[in-house]
Amino acid sequence: MTFVPLTTWREYAPSFMQRRADDFRDELTRRRTVRQFSDRPVPRKLIETCLLAAGTAPSGANLQPWHFVVVGTGETKARIREAAEREEHDFYHNRAPREWLEALAPLGTDEHKPYLETAPWLIAIFAERYGVSASGEKFSHYYVQESVGIATGFLIAALHHAGLVTLTHTPSPMGFLNEVLGRPAHEKPFLLLVVGYPAADAQVPDIGKKGIEEIATFV
Ligand SMILES: Cc1cc2nc3c(=O)[nH]c(=O)nc-3n(C[C@H](O)[C@H](O)[C@H](O)COP(=O)(O)O)c2cc1C
Repeated sequence: MTFVPLTTWREYAPSFMQRRADDFRDELTRRRTVRQFSDRPVPRKLIETCLLAAGTAPSGANLQPWHFVVVGTGETKARIREAAEREEHDFYHNRAPREWLEALAPLGTDEHKPYLETAPWLIAIFAERYGVSASGEKFSHYYVQESVGIATGFLIAALHHAGLVTLTHTPSPMGFLNEVLGRPAHEKPFLLLVVGYPAADAQVPDIGKKGIEEIATFV
């Protein structure tokens, strides 16, 4: 392994650091999960750039155990919608425990997922349970869930920063994504990100976030 000097870190004056932190918090505070999308096109290059931002995420042993399948064709989106709505119908009507349905009630979600066809892009995120070398040999991945979760967070933040909106969607179970998207069995669907512009009349639930005393303890 070779080492190089750390040239990417920037030092800021403390007051400037606070301003940057305030600005970043304010920007992230404006992010909302959107469930009504416009069909307005979004350039592929913009999505690629946000994916590269996601790919900078830290990961266990830097093995980067993620794969993003970006869906932009109507036919594939329709297949995903059909399979997702089938699973979600079963979830809402048969499988979901009452407590879970009660938690979802304020969000107004149900088994209908028109946005899976309306939005210009769907990004299916897969977690690689293990790696496969060029010669076909398996090798271990470490902290896969944690790593993919962090990369997904980076991706959501990057898309928001670029001026797009997202919906974090987890049709349960998501195994159909392997079949529809032709991904191998060792790649586990992590979640499906719906990406685009909001519909002109989009509305979001009036919800709040916990304050500092609730989410943090300083010792
Ligand atoms: C792991 C995860 C799974 C989610 N799954 C769904 C989903 O399947 N359908 C949906 O409408 N929203 C889903 N959401 C979005 C949440 O409902 C949303 O983030 C939450 O209500 C807070 O709203 P906000 O994102 O606007 O702050 C999911 C969010 C996360 C983090």
